[in-house]
Amino acid sequence: MTDQAPAPYAGPQRVLSGVQPSGDLHLGNYLGALVKFARLQHEIPTFIFVADLHAITVWQDPKLLKTQVREIAAAYLATGLDPKVATIFPQSAVPEHAELAWVFNCVARLGWLDRMTQFKEKSGKHKERASVGLYTYPVLQAADILVYKATQVPVGEDQKQHLELTRDIAGKFNHDYEAPGFFPLPEPLTQGPGARIMSLRDGTAKMSKSDPSDNSRINLTDDADAIAQKIRKAKTDPEPLPETMEALSERPEARNLVGIYAALAGRTEAEVLAEFAGQGFGAFKPKLADLAVSVMGPIGGEMRRLLSDPAEIDRILADGAARAREVATPTMAEVRRLVGFWAG
Ligand code: TYM
Repeated sequence: MTDQAPAPYAGPQRVLSGVQPSGDLHLGNYLGALVKFARLQHEIPTFIFVADLHAITVWQDPKLLKTQVREIAAAYLATGLDPKVATIFPQSAVPEHAELAWVFNCVARLGWLDRMTQFKEKSGKHKERASVGLYTYPVLQAADILVYKATQVPVGEDQKQHLELTRDIAGKFNHDYEAPGFFPLPEPLTQGPGARIMSLRDGTAKMSKSDPSDNSRINLTDDADAIAQKIRKAKTDPEPLPETMEALSERPEARNLVGIYAALAGRTEAEVLAEFAGQGFGAFKPKLADLAVSVMGPIGGEMRRLLSDPAEIDRILADGAARAREVATPTMAEVRRLVGFWAG
């Protein structure tokens, strides 16, 4: 053995990401993830799935799960994913995800999973009652990414730790099975002001599907009135907006609204402050509401239109699943050979 660095991955670039079908999508999902999917599809081959295997780590009503999957697919389409360009599919339609996850369960170390903060948050006080799937959730996420040998993963900041684990698993697999460069070490794409959108009621808590207050978030299906009203009611402070982001470090709600404006407008926070410095929220909020309504308003309507034809969504998902399997199956065949399994 030499102490040279292992050979880097030399295969094609691919983008992969997914969203769980477990509740209404909100502005955080849109700005942290969906908006990037639509942009990246034109640059790099893009695989976007609906994470129904992940969803059942907490109870999901089997009668509703398929409908929830279609809703996420409709959100993808309504926010600009083109099924002729990107590959859009349900995770459960590609069994290679689960198969690779098993191999990765045997590569990942308990100590690595013990560090995952999302499990601690989601399992709460009674972790002995959480499903084993909730614990190994990030291992399945690594399999989602690596079964396509994806190199870039557009996600919100809350997923960064799972991406670090994915890199650790890829590195250890490549090393243990003497296959340098077999899996890439994928990069999270979390740049920009939309990576961590906070609750409209509390600037220190993440905007989330599970917050009991509907006023804490803007849902993708909210109509124009609901969007405007939630922004009017958003918590703020009496001070005018300053000239720099540093001056907002102790004002989490103000900081969040500036970040939302910047992300919705496709501008930097500094540019937004250059325009609004000196103005109070009485002036800023109506501008933000207009912007949010103009960007988000049409999405809900488009989702409803798409969902009125579920057969068309199912056709898109079936076509996507077939294309996804064309990439996942050869990866899995190579993994089987490397691990020493009976040929698949
Ligand atoms: P999920 O379904 O919780 O969220 C979907 C995406 O939305 C982002 N996000 C946010 N971004 C900014 N601000 C927020 N407040 C906010 N809340 C959510 C998330 O970071 C995510 O990008 N584990 C993933 C699903 C998944 C996945 C994958 C993602 C499964 N396998 C493989 C990428 C690659 C999740 O639960 O996302």
